[in-house]
Amino acid sequence: MKVDGIPYRTIWLKPGDARVVQIIDQTRLPHAFEVVDLHTVQDICSAIRDMTVRGAGLIGACAAYGMYLATLEAPESGFTDFMARAGAALKATRPTAANLAWAVDRMAQAINSGTAPDQQRTIAREAAQAIADEDAEYCRRIGVHGLPLIAALSRRKLGQTVNILTHCNAGWLAFVDGGSATAPIYAAHDADIPVHVWVDETRPRNQGASLTAWELGQHGVPHTLIADNAGGHLMQHGLVDMVITGADRVTRNGDVANKIGTYLKALAARDNEIPFYVALPSSTLDFSLHDGIANIPIEERDADEVRFMTGLTAAGTVECVRICPATTPARNWGFDVTPARLVTQLICERGLCAATEDAILSLFPEHR
Ligand code: MRU
Repeated sequence: MKVDGIPYRTIWLKPGDARVVQIIDQTRLPHAFEVVDLHTVQDICSAIRDMTVRGAGLIGACAAYGMYLATLEAPESGFTDFMARAGAALKATRPTAANLAWAVDRMAQAINSGTAPDQQRTIAREAAQAIADEDAEYCRRIGVHGLPLIAALSRRKLGQTVNILTHCNAGWLAFVDGGSATAPIYAAHDADIPVHVWVDETRPRNQGASLTAWELGQHGVPHTLIADNAGGHLMQHGLVDMVITGADRVTRNGDVANKIGTYLKALAARDNEIPFYVALPSSTLDFSLHDGIANIPIEERDADEVRFMTGLTAAGTVECVRICPATTPARNWGFDVTPARLVTQLICERGLCAATEDAILSLFPEHR
């Protein structure tokens, strides 16, 4: 992905100082583009918890780099205990996205294959880099597998613009590069297929308005920001050809946890016979769960994220304002679960599949 023409990933080791992890501060976008240095596993935990970095794939990669930084901090005596505590702290930062615990476990396994701290530090750096590279590569492949879906709709519309609705940000900012839901969109745009994206603002944190709109603009993809509740109306009037969202955790039977509000879009899509696709890398699949509604932990965040909004004033300063009476109570669930029956297909790095246990396991037979 390019920012003002310069290629970026969302996370990397500082050139010339591999003891520092660098990230883009997503709480400052779209009003400022700032790179932040992270030095310790504690810095990484804070960045994930306060959503300086966010998005399922990126918090997985960030946690992997957190494990690497932990190997640099861990004392020679007590190395194993320190690493166990670091892994637990990272896993406790955010509960819903499967990628985070998956990355910590994969890092722990790699680090435990070493026999001495020095060797384990090298293993950890290489393993974190591998997770980041794999995340970017899997997003690229999701784009390859999703592109024909958009191309087919374009042919059916005789080359007229394909209108795609997306929710939240499952773009390159939510991963190391490329994105999941956006990967087929970028691939179609790059193949000169006319596409236009309806961007849900995605209250309460407005990842659609702040992040998806920003990155689609950086890539030159035509898009329009809409209020969260507009999608159903647009679908009823033939203005949406398909929905593509990302996912934070998908169970082995195809239930999808994604940003709060996704379920309502899936219901509206079904009622209007509009295909509803979910794009995800396999690190988002949780093969241990069979029932998303009963079993996926749903993060509840600070109610002030609902009661307050942040934006740019006419004077050019970023300010936070309260949008309700001072004493109004609020609740803030971060995610909801879309039952598998409402999902047309999953778009994974290995290809497309129905949101059913059989189809998912056909694509990932090693989890049978
Ligand atoms: O709370 P966030 O911003 O970390 O939520 C994650 C999301 O952006 C969405 O749910 C997204 O569609 C899945 S992440 C690829």
